[in-house]
Amino acid sequence: MQKVTCIAPVNIAVIKYWGKSDEDLVLPLNDSLSGTLSTDFMCAKTTISTSPALEVNKFWLNGIEQSFENERLLNCLKEVKRRANQTLPHLNWNISICSENNFPTAAGLASSAAGYACLVSALAALYEIEGDISAIARRGSGSACRSVYGGWVQWCKGASPTGEDSIAKQIAPASHWPQMRVLILVVNDERKKYSSTSGMKRSVETSELLQYRATKIVPQRIEAITKAIINKDFQAFAQITMEDSNQFHAVCLDTFPPCVYMNDTSHAIVDVVHAYNDFKKSNKVAYTFDAGPNACLYLLDSEVEEVLSVIDYVFPPVVNSEGYLKGIPLSKKAIT
Ligand code: PMV
Repeated sequence: MQKVTCIAPVNIAVIKYWGKSDEDLVLPLNDSLSGTLSTDFMCAKTTISTSPALEVNKFWLNGIEQSFENERLLNCLKEVKRRANQTLPHLNWNISICSENNFPTAAGLASSAAGYACLVSALAALYEIEGDISAIARRGSGSACRSVYGGWVQWCKGASPTGEDSIAKQIAPASHWPQMRVLILVVNDERKKYSSTSGMKRSVETSELLQYRATKIVPQRIEAITKAIINKDFQAFAQITMEDSNQFHAVCLDTFPPCVYMNDTSHAIVDVVHAYNDFKKSNKVAYTFDAGPNACLYLLDSEVEEVLSVIDYVFPPVVNSEGYLKGIPLSKKAIT
């Protein structure tokens, strides 16, 4: 019997991935960039065991058994096995996968990113493969490729039609900007109305703004935000982060029928952040929203206490967990 356990973190994109040029290979229309969060607060944990006595493959997610006939999971497994040493004795034994998230699943909190990064790193450990595994994690869930690395990570869309250069790379470690924190404001922890996969597909088919964003806007934003991170220029970083979140949700609304992910509370958080920045006469905090109503706020350590007291005052029940009170630092190391 062989057994491995891995944990992997969530990542929060500041330049969003939205739209695929190839559904099967999970190739994105544009590059994206994110910060990988510390695993102390939000992470996925996966244990995989294998033995010749296992009669069938098994998969549990958060204690509930799932079908193993999941195309994304099978693609990841196939790709890891293809890269493995073909003489490994346990290569053809059945496996049992047990995954759990310590935060709401499929609520737009990047659970699939942490989940697939974790699954692929556990498979890579089990079958002893080496080298970059981000291209394999990408086949599970696009954004998962960024959770393979810690700190600030760019997913380069690549140019190859087979996707081998559609990989993630670290542009700066977490230690480069140690004051950076992320606050997660959970507006709603229910599963989102429609998955990012179906939303993206519909956007690609119907949104004109998406094509413009992917080709004309994102390339220059990637360049500008990379520069802001390298120079630790929070003012510019926050400006680009908020603009990109707004444009991503504009694309969702430009989709037909529209994908509405943010709700009234999300918009109220946007207003509070702008009021706070106006009062401070510079960008001290930046919001970003994924495919759900929950807000992720990027800010520096020095600002956390004051921002939390404002949030607490405006939305009394929202921030009530000890865990969020210090702000989440970025992760030094992605996979453990
Ligand atoms: O990786 P997916 O298929 O769950 O898509 C994630 C898309 C966003 O979270 C909305 C943006 C991003 O870049 O993470």
